[in-house]
Amino acid sequence: MDITGIDAIRYGTTDLDDSRRYLSDVGLKEVEHGAAGCRFVTMDGGEVEVRSVTDAGLPPTTISGATIREVVWGVVSPATLDRIGAELEKDRKVTRDPDGTLHSHDATGFGIGFRVTRVKPLSRDAEPPVNLPGAEPLRIDRRIEFPDYVCVRHIGHAVFYVPDYRAARDFYLNRLGFRLSDAFIGAGAFMRCQRNPQHHSIFMLQGDPQRAPRMAAHHVAFEVGDFHEVIVGGNALMKKGWKSEFGPGRHIIGSNYFWYFRTPCGSASEYYADIDYLTEAWKPREWDFTPEVVYGWMLSAAEPKEAARGSSAAFTAAKLS
Ligand SMILES: [Fe+2]
Repeated sequence: MDITGIDAIRYGTTDLDDSRRYLSDVGLKEVEHGAAGCRFVTMDGGEVEVRSVTDAGLPPTTISGATIREVVWGVVSPATLDRIGAELEKDRKVTRDPDGTLHSHDATGFGIGFRVTRVKPLSRDAEPPVNLPGAEPLRIDRRIEFPDYVCVRHIGHAVFYVPDYRAARDFYLNRLGFRLSDAFIGAGAFMRCQRNPQHHSIFMLQGDPQRAPRMAAHHVAFEVGDFHEVIVGGNALMKKGWKSEFGPGRHIIGSNYFWYFRTPCGSASEYYADIDYLTEAWKPREWDFTPEVVYGWMLSAAEPKEAARGSSAAFTAAKLS
């Protein structure tokens, strides 16, 4: 299926004001706000919408409290929407909005939607001004900037705990034409949309009742320009009082720089940059699911006061390899 990536994330939250504040602080641009909730966009037109958990306009869920209620996938054309609708109607209910957007649910029961994509590729003018030896310099006669915010460029992926990751995986691979990028043996699957080169668009992780929820939203990944922007964005969130969950660091699987934060929206959010781009030549690898493969290196985030000083003492090395 010609699915291009995540077009929109729809959250249900127990605290609309806090969620609105978080989504603004994380670097999204608000385009709509009212009593029912608010809607934000990324630089490339991806949307993040948040409403109350009790809003009847959100897809139903068995998860209590704040969580992702729907991932809306972008597709290349109305013809693709028709194909997806016909495929899903074989064994589940599909509804259609007047604008053609489809709504249904995946194998786990998470809400999924599909629409002709509204995401527009960013121009090269938006590239971070990085200078590399031997490459065309992108920053000449000017210093780097240290803003107190970043702008989210793109919604990259969503991650869920599921009670049966094999069933969750097979739905996306066999029904929606996703590609398997990498896998944790017996524990999870990283998958990408057929028309999206980024390492993963969705990651389904086996829920373990002893250590983790069996079914929950884990995080949504917001792409920023480069490592500098991951750090600038994370420091800005900490200064505003938001709690670092994990990072900053660099993943082994996907290679992306990361920094995760707790949010009032019902899943963590991840700043990420410089993820692997894959083609049909890529061979998925099966990985043992151990802590050692989660990241190649990671720093421990400092308290906001230290981060505000901008000192190298703001971070302590937790693991370097
Ligand atoms: Fe992620």
